[in-house]
Amino acid sequence: SNVHHYSFILKETNFTRLCFEKPMLTVNEQFPGPTIHVRKGDTAFVNVHNDGKYGITIHWHGVKQPNNPWSDGPENITQCPIQPGKNFTYEVIFSDEEGTLWWHAHSDWSRATVHGHIVILPEIGKTYPFPEPYAEQTIFLASWFNTDVKELIDNATLIGGDPDPSDGFTINGWPGALYNCSNETISTFGVEYGKTYLFRLVNGVMNEEMFFGIAGHNFTVVAQDAAYIKPIVTSYIMITPGQTMDILLTADQSPSSYYIAASPFFDSNAPFDNTTTTAILQYTNATAPSSIPFPSLPSTTDKESADNFTSKIKALASEEHPISVPQNITKRIFITVSVNQLPCDLVNGTCGGPNGNRLAASLNNISFSTPTTDILQQYYSMLNDTSFDTDFPSQPAVLFNFTGDDADDYILPEVGTKAKLVEYGASVEIVYQGTNIGNAENHPMHLHGYSFYVVGSAYGNWNETTSPDTYNLIDPPEVNTIGVPKNGWTSIRFVANNPGVWFMHCHLERHASWGMNTVLIVKNGPTNDTKIRRPPANLPICA
Ligand code: C2O
Ligand code: CU
Repeated sequence: SNVHHYSFILKETNFTRLCFEKPMLTVNEQFPGPTIHVRKGDTAFVNVHNDGKYGITIHWHGVKQPNNPWSDGPENITQCPIQPGKNFTYEVIFSDEEGTLWWHAHSDWSRATVHGHIVILPEIGKTYPFPEPYAEQTIFLASWFNTDVKELIDNATLIGGDPDPSDGFTINGWPGALYNCSNETISTFGVEYGKTYLFRLVNGVMNEEMFFGIAGHNFTVVAQDAAYIKPIVTSYIMITPGQTMDILLTADQSPSSYYIAASPFFDSNAPFDNTTTTAILQYTNATAPSSIPFPSLPSTTDKESADNFTSKIKALASEEHPISVPQNITKRIFITVSVNQLPCDLVNGTCGGPNGNRLAASLNNISFSTPTTDILQQYYSMLNDTSFDTDFPSQPAVLFNFTGDDADDYILPEVGTKAKLVEYGASVEIVYQGTNIGNAENHPMHLHGYSFYVVGSAYGNWNETTSPDTYNLIDPPEVNTIGVPKNGWTSIRFVANNPGVWFMHCHLERHASWGMNTVLIVKNGPTNDTKIRRPPANLPICA
């Protein structure tokens, strides 16, 4: 395995999209930021130098970082922010991931502009479990806001906690042909007739699940979240924020230009961005058509098409790429996932949420309050007096018909900083139970430090006797982020073999900032290589 070195300089740079120019925080003045290229088992040292105006951290989304939570990145969970003028070197340790992941800032909403790809090739001498593509390209889906993202979120917190939706989506930094003021540039992917390409797609959008398609072409999805799946031939995909998908496309249509497009999927009346971003698939040596064909994507609320695609995803589970889903579990954690609509005092305009917000979000009806010094250092130094508790419950305090309307018990969540302690080596099942409360929608739940097997999902309430009978324990997909239906449940399994302090949260940024988070603390194991490493010497100092 190899060691790589990267230098990330964070600074404000002017960008113009949709006729709005604004200074925004980027890495090395690039939007999206630079791609990290490694092979399975490599290590990357990334020196992050903050030349911006506020503290920042970077997270390596989906990289497990065995025994090394110090370099995981979520602000005030595993580290304090890198202050302006300071730098920190992350040691990013790749273990069994292979495929596409991504990195992003993990301080408030800063990931809107601070993000990029991670490409993990097979080890030297190993090949893909599919025919070698002729070439590879990266595709990054992101959200564009005409205003400064930090101001947007700060103001939203003041006026009731519901920030405006984004003003558009982008593919590799460009909104594309369907927006005002966007004729200047459109992302273009050149292909040669007869060749097959590997597209590495990241959904780095802030608040929307996305449909994605390419006009005139079916394609084959071969991996998700840096794990191989059984190939799926399809004309569209649905991808949730945080996830990645690897797609094989053969340029076998009449040489021409074709639109690539992505538009949101949601089943909710919450304020979402409902625009469509485009790019162009361009055959070389083709004459431009009089009109460029557009892919037929499912409509915004087409739940059936979304579910239909998602239900096809199964782990490859081959001899070369085996899976190890726990057949029996030693620990089950049942977690309700809710957006809480809070009572407001209309006279003085304050509501019941954190900072007087109108909305909160919660796990087991506990709305996470982010501490001001990081949990990892406090836990590692075994402080007695910590800014967090370890009493996150293994089930909600009140049980009711979660997917019915009986929601009174969830009007006021408890606000707290509660982590869940897990024994090293436990075979864990987490059941995420969506609820119909408030502005319900699907929740892409993400866990740091692990990937996990999605063993089951269905609409309605999870049932201890009957639901496990429906589980797939043979070839469940292995991911780091999974969309939990608002009026249904999703069960995941993993072995708690990575000691550390690991953030778990909804990857819709609105929900994360309203408190849809908790922390799994996986205790040390018995031997030296099953313990949290020593902290690096240059860890950022907490203010
Ligand atoms: Cu992609 Cu905690 O994040
Ligand atoms: Cu959510």
